[in-house]
Amino acid sequence: MTTLHDHLATAEVLVCCGSGGVGKTTTAAALGMEAARLGRRAVVVTIDPARRLADALGVPGGLTNDPVRLDLDEPGELWALMLDTASTFDGLVRANAADEGQAERILANRFYRNVAGSLSGTQEYMAAERLHALHLDPRFDLVIVDTPPTRNALDFLDAPSTLSRFIDHPLFKMLMLPTRRGLKVFNVAAQPVLKTIGKVVGGDVLADAVAFFQAFAGMETGFRQRADEVITLLAGDVTRFVLVASPRRDTIEEARFFADRLRRSGLSVGAVVVNRCTPTFGDAPAKRPRSAAAAALYDNLVALHATADAERAHAADLLRGDALPDDVHTTFVPTLPGDVHTMDALAAIRSHLFPAAR
Ligand SMILES: Nc1ncnc2c1ncn2[C@@H]1O[C@H](COP(=O)(O)OP(=O)(O)OP(=O)(O)O)[C@@H](O)[C@H]1O
Ligand SMILES: [Mg+2]
Repeated sequence: MTTLHDHLATAEVLVCCGSGGVGKTTTAAALGMEAARLGRRAVVVTIDPARRLADALGVPGGLTNDPVRLDLDEPGELWALMLDTASTFDGLVRANAADEGQAERILANRFYRNVAGSLSGTQEYMAAERLHALHLDPRFDLVIVDTPPTRNALDFLDAPSTLSRFIDHPLFKMLMLPTRRGLKVFNVAAQPVLKTIGKVVGGDVLADAVAFFQAFAGMETGFRQRADEVITLLAGDVTRFVLVASPRRDTIEEARFFADRLRRSGLSVGAVVVNRCTPTFGDAPAKRPRSAAAAALYDNLVALHATADAERAHAADLLRGDALPDDVHTTFVPTLPGDVHTMDALAAIRSHLFPAAR
């Protein structure tokens, strides 16, 4: 069986997924810390709007769209960033435009500035683009992706193929017709199909959109190529998915939903983390102590162990089935006394994730 530790040591991309509030961000950060301990140069990409990761990692001023290196006393490195869709899109335009003029035309376009970022799929697509760039970035040898708290969190898996389909769409091809062929923005907008769209969204919006797509001409080849590369990367052996759940029935059900979602995309779960289990506070002594006070403590401890064991067996039972591989490695992490908002607490989570490595 491939353990979580094996994955951490060998993967190039780790994706933490699961339902809301189960501990994806916390797990991603703890995985990053352990990766640095193993000598890897890891970067954690978070989409955590609550900035919990920044708090836990003690990053003054919070995380930004550019990776910052954390101050750890480990042989490897840990970097972190918080994905910002708009800045990522701007960066892509600048990096891929044929010249300064093309970049400026796009960045100043009203459709681009007001609409492009909020179009459905843009955020997912930017997450995929970012993953692509970080994976190729020579500063890092492991990218750990923390996914947002929604059921659609894994939509970024489909974003690259959606983009490819979009680029091949006849409407897109028409919009991209270079103006130098004599078709001015205005003329393109006079095409019957666009006229209809214009009636719905308004002529100005349409003209802006057409101008945007025309300014984009020539860049679509690179976008398509990267999209294909991300599809290959996600499906490849170097990418592993870590499914996070808690021992509650509803979050396990959700975990199975995520596992199914992955399987439908031809991907599989590499490891499972069941977080926030009943803590056990060490092993009980072999014999029940004689003194009444110690015996009462002993009984408590034994009862806690029984609860924890039953909870684990139940979680393992629920996880079984065709959604997950039979031999998937599962780690149980107890609930800590407080939230995980400090490096020390994060280190405690890490020691539960990797008990053998301590
Ligand atoms: N084992 C644990 N013991 C105690 N507190 C925990 C534990 N794991 C996570 N937490 C706390 O629970 C809260 C949710 O954790 P986290 O932010 O990692 O979840 P998430 O799955 O990323 O949430 P979201 O879906 O909102 O992004 C945080 O305040 C975190 O500090
Ligand atoms: Mg989170």
